[in-house]
Amino acid sequence: MTAQIIDGKALSAKVKAGLKVEAAALHAKYGRAPGIAVVRVGEDPASKVYVTSKEKTAIELGFASSHHHLSDTVTQAELLALVAKLNADDTVDGILVQLPLPKHIDSTLVLETIDPAKDVDGFHAVNAGHLFQGRPTLVACTPFGVMRMLEEIGFNVAGKNCCVIGRSNIVGRPMAMLLLNASATVTICHSKSDVAAEVRRADVVIAAVGVSKLVKGEWIKPGAIVIDVGMNRGADGKLSGDVEFETAKERAAWITPVPGGVGPMTIAMLMSNTLLAAKARLGR
Ligand code: GUN
Repeated sequence: MTAQIIDGKALSAKVKAGLKVEAAALHAKYGRAPGIAVVRVGEDPASKVYVTSKEKTAIELGFASSHHHLSDTVTQAELLALVAKLNADDTVDGILVQLPLPKHIDSTLVLETIDPAKDVDGFHAVNAGHLFQGRPTLVACTPFGVMRMLEEIGFNVAGKNCCVIGRSNIVGRPMAMLLLNASATVTICHSKSDVAAEVRRADVVIAAVGVSKLVKGEWIKPGAIVIDVGMNRGADGKLSGDVEFETAKERAAWITPVPGGVGPMTIAMLMSNTLLAAKARLGR
């Protein structure tokens, strides 16, 4: 069997087309577009690429977008003051502080300073807590996008063995909670796990570790669904995922490519969260 490809680029275009229509309707009703503020600190090259892509998408969808680029010598107090200013700005519905931040800045403190109602990354403890309790509000974009992909292929995770590899606050943990909330049987793997054994019995494998080709094709249960969140830049400059794609696709029923899989979905869901935040803020 050769897997069918889950085309994240095409699905994200479909999601974005819907958001563009909704943003225009919101603009017509309330006299302003949904607004997102993106904060980037320093010169991390990957962050620059991601932030540029986020801004470009915001503009494409008719959102108001502002970009705040601070030098890597900025003090924590200055960054916190910017976040406070954006919290107080009524035209800003969503605030995104791109990670990673420089070492001298306490990232957790910065994220916890964002108004939870504007936390379009879903990283604030209040939003993460709501998800944990099964009453999600703003949900982390990457896991949210993965759920949208599973929905698109008509796969119901209820009762299925879902193996999440990675326990980060950005992907692994919120991913596991979304799957649990959808009644999946969830296993979370990490560096101390027997990953091969867990993957072998999984109906759905979601790899989010950041180690190129960690998941071997031969581990994949025939007919499984494989979602690859990895974005690993090799010494040759080429992007690879966390899954050995060529061999995995010979066993899986569905698989996401890298690039063109989960990545574009993350940005689409960020815009979806911004629209959601705008609606909630304007509607109250
Ligand atoms: N760095 C890597 N992924 C993300 C993300 O989803 N949001 C933010 N803010 N930073 C990131």
